[in-house]
Amino acid sequence: EKIVYISRHGQSEMNVKDIIGGNGYLSPSGVEYSEKLGDYIANNIDTENTRFVTSSMNRTRQTAMLAGVSPEQNEDLDEIDAGDFDGLSYGEVKCRFPSEYEARKDDKLNYRYPNGESYVDLLKRTRLALNSVDFENCDNFLIIHQAVARCLIAIMLGLSDDKVPQMEIPLHTVIKIQGSEITYQKLL
Ligand code: G3H
Repeated sequence: EKIVYISRHGQSEMNVKDIIGGNGYLSPSGVEYSEKLGDYIANNIDTENTRFVTSSMNRTRQTAMLAGVSPEQNEDLDEIDAGDFDGLSYGEVKCRFPSEYEARKDDKLNYRYPNGESYVDLLKRTRLALNSVDFENCDNFLIIHQAVARCLIAIMLGLSDDKVPQMEIPLHTVIKIQGSEITYQKLL
């Protein structure tokens, strides 16, 4: 059975400031993780028979570049679109748009950001991305985003949609999925 590896991008500048979305680059800690990811790949991955894929966003591409791999890009793997709230911090949303903040807290799966996406939307988009992943002929190594990883893992393991928005996807950790087995290896 082919293996699917999933890693979030290294910590980004936005993660540090608790900002939603954006298209920023990595923090110093994110850079350090990416280098460790490069060591992990060199020591554990059969790179000849592995397809590396990132989203189209700067932080996933920078992670792959620093890890020394040249990936394909798939914009269906881009992070959930926060629409009008892209670039705001969670605290700002809570303070300036309290009813939106509460609505998302009450039903994170169905809540759609103004002019953006919901997790239900994202599940649809990531299903498309998954269809384009070759599970037959090679292993796949995806460098992606938290919300996208939640969706993909739920789809692959057959979890119910209501589990998706709260799933824990640790930063700086390689997640390995083979059949129904999932393992986590923290690198930093
Ligand atoms: O910026 C997007 C985050 O990775 C997703 O986090 O859906 O838990 O707010 P959230």
